[in-house]
Amino acid sequence: MNLCVPNHMAIIMDGNGRWGKRRGLTRSQGHYAGAQAMEKIIDASIELGIKILTLYAFSSENWSRPKDEVNYLMDLPVKFFKKKLPGFMKRNIKINITGNIAELPEHTKKVLIESVDKTKNNRGIIVNFAFNYGGRDDILQAVQKVIHEVQNKHIDLCNVDEQLLEHYLYTKQLPDPELIIRTGGEKRISNFLLWQCSNSELYFSDIYFPDFNGELLKQVIYDTQRKHSIAE
Ligand code: FPP
Repeated sequence: MNLCVPNHMAIIMDGNGRWGKRRGLTRSQGHYAGAQAMEKIIDASIELGIKILTLYAFSSENWSRPKDEVNYLMDLPVKFFKKKLPGFMKRNIKINITGNIAELPEHTKKVLIESVDKTKNNRGIIVNFAFNYGGRDDILQAVQKVIHEVQNKHIDLCNVDEQLLEHYLYTKQLPDPELIIRTGGEKRISNFLLWQCSNSELYFSDIYFPDFNGELLKQVIYDTQRKHSIAE
């Protein structure tokens, strides 16, 4: 199969909780299984030649979940990066974080900042974790920064355009994703990359994220590509 892969692909990793419940496990065990699947998807993305992979790991709405689940999701990056970082270095993976990390507990913030720093000179795939991310919050904080710049006369109001605003978004250094996949059966964007998805293809899969894998990913890319060639 000769695949024309997206340069930037993003995934809303949904269905962890239901995956756990269906097996008589806890929702947190579902998130653990999701983290295992995430690593497989990173490897498959490298194999496919995807340059940027954005993963929705914790949304600004996720704070309203039960306290023990939130605590688990805050601890998970610590366990995950401690274990996986040496392998990420070997595979030349560059970690990026998109979102409001200032609000995170110290131990979570520390491991995310360290992971970005340790991998900053890697030149392979960029794995961009959207963590404490919300699309509306992203646009709002960018607008606030621009207003601040205008008030301080660093920017003239008549020069505020899309390109300038993009420079203040959390994703400023990244191109928009060509493809956004949501697993878990729901057909919603859930406050993910609201500005950046204006031209993205959206793909919804019924598979719970812990069951998503490289073969299914290849199939998604094949399906979306086939749709384009039929439409042309
Ligand atoms: C949504 O599923 C998923 C999340 C809120 C968390 C996703 C996180 C991971 C896959 C692991 C992240 C790991 C690191 C190291 C950053 P859900 O709980 O909403 O599932 P449900 O719709 O079945 O309830």
